[in-house]
Amino acid sequence: MPRKQAKAAQQAAPTTAPLSIVILAAGQGKRMQSDIPKVLQPLAGAPMLAHVLDLAASLTPAAIHVVYGHGGERVRELFDDARLRWSRQAEQLGTGDALQQAMPEIPDSHQVLVLYGDVPLLLADTLRGLVARSGAGRVALLTAQLADAGGYGRVVRDARGKLRGIVEECDATAKQRQIHEVNTGVLVASARFLKAWLARLRPRNAQHEYYLTDIVSMAVRQKLRIETVQAGDAEEVQGVNDRQQLALAEAEYRRRRARQLMTQGVTLIDPARIDLRGSIAVGRDVLLDVNVVLDGPVALGDGVRVGPNCVLKNVSIGARTVLFANCVLQDAQIGSDCQIGPFTRMRPKVRIANGVHLGNFVEIKNSDIGAGSKVNHLSYVGDSHVGRAVNIGAGSITCNYDGANKWRTEIGDGAFIGSGAMLVAPVKIGDGATIGAGSTITNDAPAEKLTLARSRQITLEQWQRPRKNPPKA
Ligand code: UD1
Ligand code: CA
Repeated sequence: MPRKQAKAAQQAAPTTAPLSIVILAAGQGKRMQSDIPKVLQPLAGAPMLAHVLDLAASLTPAAIHVVYGHGGERVRELFDDARLRWSRQAEQLGTGDALQQAMPEIPDSHQVLVLYGDVPLLLADTLRGLVARSGAGRVALLTAQLADAGGYGRVVRDARGKLRGIVEECDATAKQRQIHEVNTGVLVASARFLKAWLARLRPRNAQHEYYLTDIVSMAVRQKLRIETVQAGDAEEVQGVNDRQQLALAEAEYRRRRARQLMTQGVTLIDPARIDLRGSIAVGRDVLLDVNVVLDGPVALGDGVRVGPNCVLKNVSIGARTVLFANCVLQDAQIGSDCQIGPFTRMRPKVRIANGVHLGNFVEIKNSDIGAGSKVNHLSYVGDSHVGRAVNIGAGSITCNYDGANKWRTEIGDGAFIGSGAMLVAPVKIGDGATIGAGSTITNDAPAEKLTLARSRQITLEQWQRPRKNPPKA
């Protein structure tokens, strides 16, 4: 290829330069009225910044920088990740000043993508599109059309639609305030150019701040190409500055996750009354009733039905298992064809085999329960191994704690534990053993035998119920 042509091709080609991402997160978030730094406010159960970091990581950049501010040590401690680079902005002098803190660490040859700790709902595809439009000596800017553009910087274009610059609302003329195309703040530019522009920023504006947005008019003056990409919807670029916007972001997150699951073939009785966090894997024809909270990782097999008000955190459930209302399950692996609940509670380290029935007010902790076993009413099973086809009667309990230590209970296959039994651990119940109702079992019970530990029933033939004293004559 002749040299001239090669040069032109190089200029037109989308960027292949390494990408550095800078997340600006030094703002105080005064409007939150909170003791927690804004970027640590929870969205879908995780700090807002965690969402932005996940998004950044999904673009597999060469580096991720976070600019943090006063009191931001807590932020830094929480995300103690060797892959992150931290830059402290001593004073909040504006977005331009914030970005400048990270620049010395970024090689000139890199493209820089600027994200914000309080804009958590951007989509990776949108950002990929923006990065693809960037290139050496170009700025790519993410904009959005908003019905209500109040508070945002406006994108100013000339009569032919060519971009001229960005003007902050407080610096805008009445006419500019009528513009509906807003700056999302998200942009990509090459590090070499950014360093030069940032060094020339001056705080000559209503807020006396160093505006990152001023680099756009600098690029215009240098006759550099500026690409704008419009975000798909307003929700995607929405910032979180106060609790109302936080709730709006939460609702948008909820809608998105619900939509994803429905696309995968899950029936949601009401997509507005479900909360989905973390990773969720689903089989075919799963049904989730109202007010279900799934806190991933959660895996639901084919035909699983989850009743109203169930809360699942780190749980996997095999095919066709049904959870009735109000189950609260954590760190559990549950087999197929089980019936669980209503009101079953599982605390960490629970393994339930196939075809198990667990009923009302049954609590299971650190135990495994064999196939086809039943614990149907008001029981506590902790630190136990329960074999196959065991039946544990109503109100029976493993007494696993002696006030100092936890002990194990082992119940063999086919054992039948009568109602109201206390199994005082450490204790073993043999295969096929039967424990009489109301027994307090402190020694091992042999296989295939009836074991009872309760006082004999007696009846006092002469006994009479006391009567009230007769009235005095
Ligand atoms: C900024 C943009 C505006 C855009 C809007 C989109 C500028 C000058 N304006 O305005 O055009 O429409 O975002 O939401 O860039 N931050 C720091 N250090 C600072 C100042 C800010 O880290 O000194 C961080 C904040 O934590 C926040 C982000 O930068 O995450 C945006 O700052 P903010 O003050 O909210 O900017 P806006 O006035 O909303
Ligand atoms: Ca803002």
